[in-house]
Amino acid sequence: MQWRRRHCCAHTAKLLYLLSLLGVLILLVQQEWLPGFSGMLWWRSHPVVYGEGELHTTNMSSHHSEWRFVIVPQPTFKADANISSHEKEGVSSSPGDPSFENTLAASIEGELSGNITHGPFTYIINEPDKCPESRPVPFLVLLIATEARQVEARNAIRQTWGNESVAPALGFIRLFLLGKNEGELGLLQQKMLEAESRRYHDIIQQDFMDSYKNLTLKTLMGMNWVAIHCPQVSYVMKTDSDMFVNTEYLIYKLLRPEIRPKKNYFTGNNMRGFAPNRNKNSKWYMPPELYPGDKYPTFCSGTGYVFSGDMASKIYQASLSIPNLPLEDVYVAICLAKLQIEPTPPPNEFLFNHWRVSYSSCTYSHLITSHGFHPNELLKYWHHLQSNKLNACINTLRTRAGRHSNRTREKPSIAV
Ligand SMILES: *[C@@H]1O[C@H](CO)[C@@H](O)[C@H](O)[C@H]1NC(C)=O
Ligand SMILES: *[C@@H]1O[C@H](CO)[C@@H](O)[C@H](O)[C@H]1NC(C)=O
Ligand SMILES: *[C@@H]1O[C@H](CO)[C@@H](O)[C@H](O)[C@H]1NC(C)=O
Ligand SMILES: *[C@@H]1O[C@H](CO)[C@@H](O)[C@H](O)[C@H]1NC(C)=O
Ligand SMILES: *[C@@H]1O[C@H](CO)[C@@H](O)[C@H](O)[C@H]1NC(C)=O
Ligand SMILES: *[C@@H]1O[C@H](CO)[C@@H](O)[C@H](O)[C@H]1NC(C)=O
Repeated sequence: MQWRRRHCCAHTAKLLYLLSLLGVLILLVQQEWLPGFSGMLWWRSHPVVYGEGELHTTNMSSHHSEWRFVIVPQPTFKADANISSHEKEGVSSSPGDPSFENTLAASIEGELSGNITHGPFTYIINEPDKCPESRPVPFLVLLIATEARQVEARNAIRQTWGNESVAPALGFIRLFLLGKNEGELGLLQQKMLEAESRRYHDIIQQDFMDSYKNLTLKTLMGMNWVAIHCPQVSYVMKTDSDMFVNTEYLIYKLLRPEIRPKKNYFTGNNMRGFAPNRNKNSKWYMPPELYPGDKYPTFCSGTGYVFSGDMASKIYQASLSIPNLPLEDVYVAICLAKLQIEPTPPPNEFLFNHWRVSYSSCTYSHLITSHGFHPNELLKYWHHLQSNKLNACINTLRTRAGRHSNRTREKPSIAV
């Protein structure tokens, strides 16, 4: 009797769980993805119309203005960066294909033969000795985009997911990326930043204006640093200072130090088939003069992407011939398209989240990124996760239905 009741309860829980998943799916389809799906149906019945530039007329002034891009149906992958038009035809070959790797090596050899220099901007603060050749090859460099005033966020990251003690035996390097600020406040912030740098030695800064639109320069500084000062590192992650990053899961479950490091590898939340946002009032507006194409190449949300160490110098080199664009993640994807490297989809779609996932120790022990954290929340959740590490999912069955029903975006807006 006992057994039967428990058995039946397990079945009910499973049923509830399935039903709630279905509910979430219907909700998503109705609220957010409908334009995408209806667009696809529309495209299917009017294939000839597709490509005439009519797709940008989608009205962005409703709640969809929170979305960065219009979703465009994309029957096959094709890098749309016009910059590499002569290379587009070859993109369909997979990066795992050895003949593809050979052609890639041949085609970029010329570009890579020049020595990488610090680039157009000079370092104000640098950490050239973080990654000396004498020590064992480091496993991971974390590049974290931040602004001078975000002192609290940096301190929270140092104590939580950016703490070297997450992977004590492996080389683990944390670097905060900054530009400079002007004015009196800027001078004051610079003094404090330099003191912070002397204390923690985890800040790099170049002399470009620190602004949201200059995020691409910030990311390229990080690529440049890895290419010059730590080219042998196995993996690099670029992320932001308002993120929760489960570095332990990233290192031990996704990247796995025990296997040979990958090459030409790039992964994250793959954003496939997105079109430029042409709404001038949007934070993610892309002027047609800067990017005339209808679609972006598949890009990985800038909230967190991971790549093999060899990619840093390749992306940096590719960037030298690609004009700057304000959207950092799209820009990096254009560099990848030029290199004919397609981002690898992560092993499951719940790993890299560019929205905030409702916290539970079970959920957070099985994801890599979640977005939108105040420093205090970061400390709170991190410590909860650490103290419940061994039995993170002990209550899973009981709360499964509930947890999954609110595993949706708390904030539908997406940020870089
Ligand atoms: C977009 O929708 C708003 C109201 O939802 C309307 O006022 C506006 O005229 C529309 N714009 C276009 C271009 O259709
Ligand atoms: C895109 O490339 C094609 C062919 O390479 C060229 O004719 C066209 O002018 C380019 N478009 C833009 C906007 O650069
Ligand atoms: C690159 O640097 C090495 C050593 O720093 C130097 O010997 C070589 O000449 C440089 N090559 C170029 C193309 O500047
Ligand atoms: C990193 O973690 C270790 C061990 O938990 C701790 O002793 C150290 O204070 C932490 N570092 C920072 C900067 O909080
Ligand atoms: C980006 O930085 C450069 C160099 O400091 C500066 O000239 C430019 O105005 C900045 N752009 C924005 C949008 O802040
Ligand atoms: C999910 O939502 C329910 C109410 O709808 C709430 O009681 C529960 O705490 C939420 N779970 C999480 C993990 O936020």
